[in-house]
Amino acid sequence: MTPVTPARFDGYSILITAAGQGIGAATAHRLAAEGASVLVTDLDAKRASDRAAAIREAGGTADSLACDVADRTAVEAAVAHAVESFGRLDVLVNNAYAASEDAELFEDVPDEQWERDLDITLSGPFRCARAALPHLVASGRGAIVTIGSVNGEQDFGGHGYSAAKAGLASLTRTLAGHAGPRGVRVNLVAPGTIRTDAWAGRDAELERAAALYPLGRIGTPEDIASAVAFLASSDASWITGTTLRVDGGILAVNTGFRQAMAQQP
Ligand SMILES: NC(=O)c1ccc[n+]([C@@H]2O[C@H](COP(=O)([O-])OP(=O)(O)OC[C@H]3O[C@@H](n4cnc5c(N)ncnc54)[C@H](O)[C@@H]3O)[C@@H](O)[C@H]2O)c1
Repeated sequence: MTPVTPARFDGYSILITAAGQGIGAATAHRLAAEGASVLVTDLDAKRASDRAAAIREAGGTADSLACDVADRTAVEAAVAHAVESFGRLDVLVNNAYAASEDAELFEDVPDEQWERDLDITLSGPFRCARAALPHLVASGRGAIVTIGSVNGEQDFGGHGYSAAKAGLASLTRTLAGHAGPRGVRVNLVAPGTIRTDAWAGRDAELERAAALYPLGRIGTPEDIASAVAFLASSDASWITGTTLRVDGGILAVNTGFRQAMAQQP
């Protein structure tokens, strides 16, 4: 029997956007624990450097850099920094997003909100992938894993955010088609509701949401980190262009319909 090695990412250099907290942070910890050198980037410089320090304290290898994915120059600098620090770039994890509150009436959605949600959530991963691709090709085992959302596949509210997440599934496919022959895999993870600071102060809503999940709970950042690690690793070496739902079954099962039908007249 071949032993399963715990260090799937020994010798890998990985750049993660928006990794100061939440899903990005859990992913950074997971990949570092499996041997990767991780560049933790975030809009918030202190958040990124605190996260990198925590990874180093846990025995991992990490550096940090402030990077706003809306800024092409900052994105290119982050890619260059990863290559300079770790000598290569093997994996890009696109995790940054923007999600505006929906206006009560659709006709009141401001241009700036719509444009910002698309710019950060959809164009951000485009900018990062464009800057990283030559290095991922050079790696010979390059992979891009982008964080989408169940919002890209069904209505959970959030007009611009959801449209952007749906767009990421398309970008994943077109980029997979382009980059596959160059040796780079491209995949999307679509999380359901995950307990992060994005939901701070909304415990009652999370409790109501949990009741709708076939698996009886909402997700954790670690649930997503393990899926990202799988898709980034050689365990997924024949998987590209796909969307992996990590959603406790919410897209597959119509819980509301089942509950309505189960009610006694
Ligand atoms: N939490 C959920 O329920 C949930 C569900 C589905 C999908 N997702 C997706 O997971 C990813 C991470 O979500 P989370 O809940 O962990 O996030 P979070 O809100 O906890 O953290 C977001 C981080 O992004 C950083 N950031 C914000 N704007 C940025 C920018 N322009 N450039 C770089 N960094 C920026 C922030 O500083 C912060 O550290 C996102 O893509 C989100 O759409 C989350």
